[in-house]
Amino acid sequence: MNAKHFDAVAYAKFVVEGIATKLERAGRDEARTKACWLINHVTGAPFGDITTKGIKPLIKEQWEALGEFLNRVIAGEPIQYVVGNADFMGRVFKCDKRALIPRPETEELVATVLTAADRATSRQIIDVGTGTGCIAISLAFECPAAEIIATDISANALALARENAAAHGQDSRIKFLQTDLLDGFEPQSADIIVSNPPYIADAEATSLAPEIREHEPRTALFAGADGLGVIRRLIPQAFQVLRPGGRLFLEIGETQSAAVKHLLEQAGYSDVTTRKDLAGHDRIAAARKNPPGN
Ligand SMILES: C[S@@+](CC[C@H](N)C(=O)[O-])C[C@H]1O[C@@H](n2cnc3c(N)ncnc32)[C@H](O)[C@@H]1O
Repeated sequence: MNAKHFDAVAYAKFVVEGIATKLERAGRDEARTKACWLINHVTGAPFGDITTKGIKPLIKEQWEALGEFLNRVIAGEPIQYVVGNADFMGRVFKCDKRALIPRPETEELVATVLTAADRATSRQIIDVGTGTGCIAISLAFECPAAEIIATDISANALALARENAAAHGQDSRIKFLQTDLLDGFEPQSADIIVSNPPYIADAEATSLAPEIREHEPRTALFAGADGLGVIRRLIPQAFQVLRPGGRLFLEIGETQSAAVKHLLEQAGYSDVTTRKDLAGHDRIAAARKNPPGN
């Protein structure tokens, strides 16, 4: 291309199309979005400006880096692991194979907590299975009066969550604890317990997208024969740890709503509800531990 007549927009579109074509040939979805994401990662050009404002000609090192990252995506690695971050509730979280990639459904879980629970009077909030820390850190921003505790059974996930909390300036607000679900918590100590636990049935592994199955941590995904192995233990444990009047919020699998409602009612919760995600599936369960006399 002649430098004198360099057209930054045409050049950007040419690079995007080249990458997108390779991704499509490899069977990857959202090829143009992923192409822009890779270009943004390599050049620093703002994602939304790439095809509207254009980019400068890539230098040799940038082409080499782009080729390496592109090959990883073509080989099936999730793009969030390749570029090392993911967006969650308008914030960027460091993301790597130590923890699950934050998902849009989980943004709805956090939004539900924020609309249903009383932020001003909630003193202790526990995020069970914190992964990248996306839930705990988002709640730390939105609930400035609360003490937030984030647990995970995985030391690797907790290390990543700590890095994210520090990057967002919330590390002094969140206590991180390596434990099995709520082991070690005082009875009647929490106002809100929130969790996006593993909920996929072991047998569903074969039907999962290889990007998920082969790259995201197994402990973050699978929960026994019916996928309810973790939720079944968490529901009664959370009942003990919640204060009277406290609330439990869970992300659940799209076929689990009836079973989870039953487990919640059996454990003694009231105000048991489920909420649909944008795709129309019941994906969020909420319940309350009644104060005495109710
Ligand atoms: C589905 S991921 C959710 C991660 C993060 N909260 C999110 O929403 O992106 C489930 C998390 O629970 C953790 N986990 C699995 N079993 C656990 C257990 N028994 N006790 C505590 N954490 C557990 C996993 O290590 C993983 O980080």
